[in-house]
Amino acid sequence: MLPTIEWRDGRVIMIDQRLLPEKEAYVECRSHEDVAEAIENMAIRGAPAIGVAAAMGVALGFGREAKSGRTEDAFNRVTERLRRTRPTARNLFWALERMKSVFEQNRDASPEEMTSRLEAEALAVEAEDIDINKRIGSAGRSLIRDGMSVITHCNTGGLATAGYGTALGIVRAAFEEGRKVRVVVDETRPYLQGARLTCWELRRLGIPHVLITDGAAGWLMKGGEVGLALVGADRVARNGDTANKIGTYSLAVLAREHGIPFYVAAPVSTVDFSLADGEGIPVEERSEDEVRNFGGRPVAPPDTPARNPAFDVTPARLIAGIITEHGIARPSFERTLRSLGRS
Ligand code: MRU
Repeated sequence: MLPTIEWRDGRVIMIDQRLLPEKEAYVECRSHEDVAEAIENMAIRGAPAIGVAAAMGVALGFGREAKSGRTEDAFNRVTERLRRTRPTARNLFWALERMKSVFEQNRDASPEEMTSRLEAEALAVEAEDIDINKRIGSAGRSLIRDGMSVITHCNTGGLATAGYGTALGIVRAAFEEGRKVRVVVDETRPYLQGARLTCWELRRLGIPHVLITDGAAGWLMKGGEVGLALVGADRVARNGDTANKIGTYSLAVLAREHGIPFYVAAPVSTVDFSLADGEGIPVEERSEDEVRNFGGRPVAPPDTPARNPAFDVTPARLIAGIITEHGIARPSFERTLRSLGRS
């Protein structure tokens, strides 16, 4: 299991995903502010991992802030700060809601007692996430036939979760069952989560893979080199419209054109049942500099106008199924997601 994030003696330790694959270094968070900054600056990323970090950030922050002043103010201050880190991943808000219900159920507890309940809840969120990922792996692995090439986008492995992974967890589950599988990895401009992180994970796991530029996906599909497309999700609306890393929508359109099944893998906690469709999903816009520069060097003339939406929304009609820990939801998703959500 990868050391994505860990609670250790009142600190949160996370592998610094900005430095991979060149360097394996760890960020140590001693306050909720440290955790919030780690989420903002992408030391930790991936929707489920962000959720776990936020839960741990609440426990860490409350423990410190509640020493001075009213506990309710302390709790609200901490959660408000974490809420403002990144807008798209549903798991962040889901985790904060979960911590809030622990706070509300224990209103009469002393600050020390409350801190230990919040800690226990954060550790439960972490442990459950690993278990959920393994169940997503079991639910989806039979989609991968022996000898298949699977295209994926961004990073959906152990690094994007508390461990094991969602879409990449399905590949891993098929591989662990002895199936031959090759992963076609989109590099995922501009942050290169595919090239830097997915390839790093697949190499450690010994799973055959090939790295491509994002623009090469259609050509490989046309040449018959891809049998299945498998991606993760940051937020799924109740009709199945899915926000995921920028480039996912293009991949889904290409998959449809070439008759390749396109699947999304995500825990039920990524589904936002309050949203009827993808229109309401907030899409994070990141700095233009991430597009104009790479690795501290310019790749365009200075001040070139650029756009940097970090996510896009794939319409449900392009999605063959959404693989959750409770099974695969098929269209129409409004009904199937709701019933899996109740499982
Ligand atoms: O900007 P990131 O790296 O946090 O974006 C991550 C993704 O888009 C992932 O595909 C998604 O969170 C699913 S991770 C299991």
